Amino acid sequence: MEKEIKTRVLQPTAEALREAAELLKRGELVAFPTETVYGLGADALNADAVRSIFAAKNRPADNPLIVHIWDKSQLDALCEPTETALKLMDAFWPGPLTVLCRRKPTVPDVVTAGLDTVGMRMPSHPVAREMLRVSGVPVAAPSANLSTRPSPTTAAHVLEDMDGRIPLILDGGACDFGVESTVLDASGPVPVILRPGAVTREMVAELVGACEVADSVMRPLKEGETAPSPGMKHKHYAPKGRLTIYRGRAEAVAKAICEAYDREENAVILPLDDHAALYGDRRTLPMGRTLLDAAHHLFASLREADHLGYTRLLAEAVSEEEVGLAVMNRMARAAAFDVEDVDN
Ligand code: TXA
Ligand code: MG
Repeated sequence: MEKEIKTRVLQPTAEALREAAELLKRGELVAFPTETVYGLGADALNADAVRSIFAAKNRPADNPLIVHIWDKSQLDALCEPTETALKLMDAFWPGPLTVLCRRKPTVPDVVTAGLDTVGMRMPSHPVAREMLRVSGVPVAAPSANLSTRPSPTTAAHVLEDMDGRIPLILDGGACDFGVESTVLDASGPVPVILRPGAVTREMVAELVGACEVADSVMRPLKEGETAPSPGMKHKHYAPKGRLTIYRGRAEAVAKAICEAYDREENAVILPLDDHAALYGDRRTLPMGRTLLDAAHHLFASLREADHLGYTRLLAEAVSEEEVGLAVMNRMARAAAFDVEDVDN
């Protein structure tokens, strides 16, 4: 990193949004809220600005960035969406869906990590939309965490990772969904989900007849295997403590978790609210009642566990149906795939 800069956190007033737009146009970085997680943005057409994103995050250069737009009229200058891609955009934009499209030569190599596709996304968060509109530039943005850390879902999380590295964070409060967008490859006849999110396989299949999920979504890559989405091969979302996930019937899960907890000095349990009673007075970081609650709480709970100094995290698996797949995909990676099946 270059010398430290002062990082300001501003409420998204009209003045702050103008300032964010000016910074982006000058090639500087701005962190901003979206409906999924906070993003770390730069002018996507300014290769030097985009390079500084990789530096600020310590992100491996082979991991491509998503380009954010506020209006479909921006697509034509950047990419060539297929018919299916356009149909998906019409149905789910603005919202938590990233569609991979063949890129045009205007998009710098550093954005796509040299791939011939670019991930396009139109966020629905009003602050993100207003920042994109006022700046007038397409914005390349990964999640605003340091590489390998859980994605930030509040401005405070961003500050924790980016203080002294970027000039401005727009504070839009806690992100609604809490897990990153669905990344979808719509280049072939059947769309393929490379990273699950709030736009689910079920929702895409209902719209276009069928949708597949890349099988690397719920398992580690094999030695030498090429990642369909480069982000999948990197260490991800990791808390400082060691996380294990327990999968199976609720009572069997609780029994295994309690046994593990009681062997440890400094453990914490991440249960769904409905199961809290199974853990007695052991320390917990509850994940809420529904799959959407679990998505909303997951990254914040992993950071909270770090703040509280827990060295061992024991989490209940959730269902892999619908948005549960996004939660389990992130949890399994945060746990480096330490998932125990307790039934049998
Ligand atoms: O919700 C989100 O998508 C957030 C907000 C800020 O929009 N952004 C985000 O970006 O999560 P990032 O960079 O943390 O994750 C992008 C993922 C990575 O796994 C990357 O490998 C994949 O999308 N990706 C991006 N462009 C790709 C491409 N052309 N081909 C395959 N995978 C791509
Ligand atoms: Mg990320």
